[in-house]
Amino acid sequence: MPNFITKTIVKPALPFKSGRCDFLWEVSSDSSDYIFTRCDGEEFFIQIKGKEPKIIVKGEKISRPSQVIFLQNALEEYAKKAVCDIIASNIIPASNRLKERNPIIKEIDFFAQNFAFDKELFLEIGFGSGRHLLHQAKNNPDKLIIGIEIHKPSIEQVAKQCNISGLKNVALIDYDSRILMEFLRSNSISKIFIHFPVPWDKKPHRRVINPYFVNEALRVLKPDGTLELRTDSHMYYAYALDIFMQNPRADVRIFKNFDLEISSKYEDRWKRLEKNIYDITLTNTQSHPENSPLSKLSFDYLNNIDKIIRDFTPKLFRGEDFFVHFEEMHTDHKRAVIKAAFGAYERVEHLFIIIQEDKISYFPNDAYAVKANKKAHEIIKKWLNE
Ligand SMILES: C[S@@+](CC[C@H](N)C(=O)[O-])C[C@H]1O[C@@H](n2cnc3c(N)ncnc32)[C@H](O)[C@@H]1O
Repeated sequence: MPNFITKTIVKPALPFKSGRCDFLWEVSSDSSDYIFTRCDGEEFFIQIKGKEPKIIVKGEKISRPSQVIFLQNALEEYAKKAVCDIIASNIIPASNRLKERNPIIKEIDFFAQNFAFDKELFLEIGFGSGRHLLHQAKNNPDKLIIGIEIHKPSIEQVAKQCNISGLKNVALIDYDSRILMEFLRSNSISKIFIHFPVPWDKKPHRRVINPYFVNEALRVLKPDGTLELRTDSHMYYAYALDIFMQNPRADVRIFKNFDLEISSKYEDRWKRLEKNIYDITLTNTQSHPENSPLSKLSFDYLNNIDKIIRDFTPKLFRGEDFFVHFEEMHTDHKRAVIKAAFGAYERVEHLFIIIQEDKISYFPNDAYAVKANKKAHEIIKKWLNE
């Protein structure tokens, strides 16, 4: 994550423009300051944290853009205008930065709007270094290969590789795959690949595969479409098999130590260590009812922003199958920026709720009406107006 560390800082007055970036307003909490920044159409917060003689200026994590150039440009421009005494920086020189937005990297709106894709779709979840995804894209020029990753540097790296190889049939997104499934149309995907998912033996609720995910995967798969899990973890293999077999009708095939045409970085490592590798292929055997595109969750009005600013304390609401956690508030006494986590316990959405001039919105992207979010959104609306 690009950042710089300074002994001291005198912040420039806001708003100001520098280069291609606008620095618009600032909100604060006891622990840090957020500067609302817009660069080439991307909006995010720069975060300033710490005390003299060690103040860190970096991108805030939830709003961090998928492409790091925007953040690097913004930090460089901010450092030019602030009076700083920089002791360390990892911002790469402008000449080595990517210049353009990479069209292969998509935002969640792309999936909401292109709900009915006209191409046959493959989906790879957690593609990491992308060897398998790139292989599929090269060998299937007539299909769109959707790659989902939560590790932003991997997304940028693979997007660059696509450009170098001239691959246009790829769409990459930085999103939790467990939430993204609900955006996809029933009976639309031919193959879902999950290769070497993190086993999360100590935190199983973070696993990509869970009963709800498998139901969604079967829904979005075409009849005869397949969910292909490849793992070196016997525990994960047994766990996934158990979930697959919970379906009243399950077509499952199992292989041990079979090679694919392409081997990922992880796989190379496990093979060197002579670990076993397990493949489980779950085939969808039926057609599922059509679903509709997801709508955006919106707010109507706000009774009293002053009360929220005055009375905010972190708060957790627990429902049976969803929760809402208002974690922290930053404010400038006109606006409130509330960091929130909500949704299903195993599929958490992290967003800000920005309240300003009686308008309320989610940031950095809209929240969509996936099932658990709808319930959480009702609680959020109620809490804001109580
Ligand atoms: C162990 S790596 C395997 C990478 C790649 N498939 C391979 O075989 O080399 C697991 C990847 O899954 C990603 N990941 C973990 N949870 C995810 C989620 N909920 N949605 C999307 N990607 C996820 C991680 O960021 C990581 O890159």
